[in-house]
Amino acid sequence: MPGAVPFMRRRRQSITRRASDEKFEQGSEGHRLDVKVLGINALFHDPAAALVIDGQVVAAAEEERFSRRKHGKRPVPFAAWELPELSARWCLDSAGLRPEDLDAVAYSYDPGLARPAEEMGLDDPWDWLRQRYAERAPGFLAAALPGLDPANVVFVPHHAAHAASAAPVSAEGAWDVLVLDGRGERASSLAGVHDGVHLHALASQNLPHSLGLLYESVTEHLGFLRSSDEYKVMALASYGEPRFAERLRPLIRATGEGGFVTEPVEWGTLAKHRQAGEPWERDHADLAASVQLVVEETILDLARWLQGSTGGDRLALAGGVALNCVANTRLFAEGPYREVWVQPAAGDAGTALGAAFHVGTEVVPWDGPALGSRWSEEQIEAELRRARVPFERPADIAVEAAECLASDGLVAWFQGPSEYGPRALGHRSLLADPRPAANVERLNHVKGREEFRPVAPMVLDERAGDIFGRGPLPSPYMLFVHDVAPEWRDRIPAVVHVDGTARVQTVSDEKEPLTARMLREFEARTGVPVVVNTSLNTAGRPMVDSPHDALELFGSAPVDLLAIGPFVVRRPR
Ligand SMILES: [Fe+2]
Repeated sequence: MPGAVPFMRRRRQSITRRASDEKFEQGSEGHRLDVKVLGINALFHDPAAALVIDGQVVAAAEEERFSRRKHGKRPVPFAAWELPELSARWCLDSAGLRPEDLDAVAYSYDPGLARPAEEMGLDDPWDWLRQRYAERAPGFLAAALPGLDPANVVFVPHHAAHAASAAPVSAEGAWDVLVLDGRGERASSLAGVHDGVHLHALASQNLPHSLGLLYESVTEHLGFLRSSDEYKVMALASYGEPRFAERLRPLIRATGEGGFVTEPVEWGTLAKHRQAGEPWERDHADLAASVQLVVEETILDLARWLQGSTGGDRLALAGGVALNCVANTRLFAEGPYREVWVQPAAGDAGTALGAAFHVGTEVVPWDGPALGSRWSEEQIEAELRRARVPFERPADIAVEAAECLASDGLVAWFQGPSEYGPRALGHRSLLADPRPAANVERLNHVKGREEFRPVAPMVLDERAGDIFGRGPLPSPYMLFVHDVAPEWRDRIPAVVHVDGTARVQTVSDEKEPLTARMLREFEARTGVPVVVNTSLNTAGRPMVDSPHDALELFGSAPVDLLAIGPFVVRRPR
């Protein structure tokens, strides 16, 4: 779909606007407005809601954090009608709005663009049901949010929503944009350039070719949960040799015109199907490594084509494939762009935010993905009293946490608003000392994770360059992997993956002063400016969101210290 897709501050022709809104037209003339748009992602994966007022993200959250069901729902056609009701209501409540106050609800899928599954080459006999549910989304939304006028629901093309989720950086000037995911209406990619006002789409790849669906397919073959566990395949790849890559390259490759092919692969001819829970074998790791390699090569070729078309030097990535931090690093290290930025909520959850941006009138650069629920000191204290747990208010919570970590304690770190997107970034984190290698096993036990999966480090911004290389620095959202300097590998073994890399989060005084202080206090005690950072959840559960969730986790997991706001709850050791 070559050509300019009008984008931001102007009314788009590519979407079905059902509301006649003078406000949107006035926005293009630059008047001061009060445009309130609720973005909704519901159809495929990770339902989420985001509220954008005058281009400012006011609130954004995934449904799983409220429903306490991992990923919100299964991504099957029968569940396509389900909406992120709890997160949508929370977004409205947090701004003191009622559904009737909204100027638009932006739904990140446009059923008018879809085609019957068989026409698109998809083997999905129930896809028609998904489309019917999407068409009826305005009615479902009006029922879920009483007072909402269904005529105010706007369908936003799925990949335009992904692309618009990169708007926070595009607001600062032109960026090339590459969206890669499983599928949208009839495509699985979008390559273009966003000039701060418009998204100019240069190329897209139609289904059934899809890097995301390909990765999902091998995920299932390797015995993991499709549309959920793709990151496990990426981790497993580090243990293998890409000895099947030559056989895969003719089937999975870029076309040289901004698209790619992913022909069906008989995975069983390369490695036998692994049942969930069975031990993995060499063939499984080699298959994971091979798929990972050819996907990286395809992404690199796409990026080279895009950069050759635009001459740009900055690339923004979105779509579920952009959560592949190994591929992101290769793109940064070997690709044609000086800068690579990845939307932290790169998966479908991020389309709630992108859809709202797409429909809104302007975009205000954001401060990062800490956009979820937030709790006052009074609320936290009330919850601690209600639970009748002994707690204290130390002089400095950062010192308390650092002391516990330095004596090899596990710390549940609950600070500030929860994160939007799949990564814990120091707001709902489980922290540990990176020096004992055994802490990987200890954390994987708490979280019910596979042994082969690494845990990740957070590091002080100014010390990151001494310890980590190859990937971009700073790297505040854990979306790239970095090589660990050889002299540091034995000092922080818990965060070094089998291939000598680590998925780093850098922490700055400016953006995260409390967490930075905790890291500095840890360094003062140990000489190491790094702690292990994993998401604050137990096996199979979504990340902790509320103080109540945090206490539930603390009550059931061998965590030594809960650092919640300015308070601590200790477990006798
Ligand atoms: Fe998507």
